[in-house]
Amino acid sequence: MSEILIIGGGIMGMAIALELRSQGAEVTILSRNFKEAATHAAAGMLAPQAEGIAPGPMLDLCLQSRAFYGGWCDRIEEITGAKTGYWGCGILAPVYTLPQNNSDYWLDRDSIHQFQPGLSDEVGGGYWYPEDGQVDNRALAQALWLAMQKVGVNVREGVEVHQIQHHRAKINCVETNRGTHTAQHYILATGAWSQELLPIPVYPKKGQMLSLRVPQNILASFPLHRVLFGSHIYIVPRQDGRIIIGATSEDVGFTPKNTARGIQSLLNETIRLYPQLKDFAIEELWWGYRPTTPDELPILGTSPYENLTLATGHHRNGILLAPITGLLITKLIGEGKLEPLLPHFHYSRFSDRV
Ligand code: GLY
Repeated sequence: MSEILIIGGGIMGMAIALELRSQGAEVTILSRNFKEAATHAAAGMLAPQAEGIAPGPMLDLCLQSRAFYGGWCDRIEEITGAKTGYWGCGILAPVYTLPQNNSDYWLDRDSIHQFQPGLSDEVGGGYWYPEDGQVDNRALAQALWLAMQKVGVNVREGVEVHQIQHHRAKINCVETNRGTHTAQHYILATGAWSQELLPIPVYPKKGQMLSLRVPQNILASFPLHRVLFGSHIYIVPRQDGRIIIGATSEDVGFTPKNTARGIQSLLNETIRLYPQLKDFAIEELWWGYRPTTPDELPILGTSPYENLTLATGHHRNGILLAPITGLLITKLIGEGKLEPLLPHFHYSRFSDRV
């Protein structure tokens, strides 16, 4: 396989790097700031069903990736000895207002309160998705970073690509703060920042988050062992006693910082759904930028340049879609194999904007 340069050190770039390297490619990955990626801001839900993704290619992509997740994390843990926090804990989606039609996943009022103690009395029922789950995205990011070093990916942190140089339909090189880099093939995995390098419609959608800590004296008996996915909130209990809470969804560009309003809305919805959390200590507040496209679907596959592949715009589902993205992009570049799902995510659907 050829020599490949990946621009972007978030989960997508790392997943692709690992997969390509395991197929024998010489891979370099350029990361501007490892901690800046949406990867670190996420809650790590693996939630194709709880997110209510409509049947179609996107749901198929998400379900395939969810099916790979456990094995993918096992592989990363074997390579590194590091934990990823993968947990097939299921996701419970409680509702306050009863729907007109229920599905096979429906739990009525009595069943849901019996199944999950501690929910607000306002909860009138909900959906239980046992195959959804979570991964500790920060632990996974660290493990992937380590895995890349172990398998021999050339990892370059603190390298910012300023410009992609091309001649006609071919990329010649990328200009960075550390000089010029060349490769046979390039992959753009720069998430919310993609427009800085290429005119593709990927925009930041800010999400504010916070975490609580279960008090040590009740940790053993605290009964929340699954993700709660409410209508404006999700509550993700980690196995170490942290509880991740997210997220706002704001069109404010790259405006940094948490806001009083953002955190207030998260706390109100949290306490409404699971009242006991009101007394837990706040551990951390943070924010991040989802890479969002006009139809909220990722941009995957070939580009206007013959030696540039796109893997960006995963919106709310980047953590979930990392394994399948790594696999499909590797098959495309390594074997020239266009898996049937890929064309649905081609950039040309936005040809009036590119
Ligand atoms: N995946 C959940 C979110 O983007 O907030």
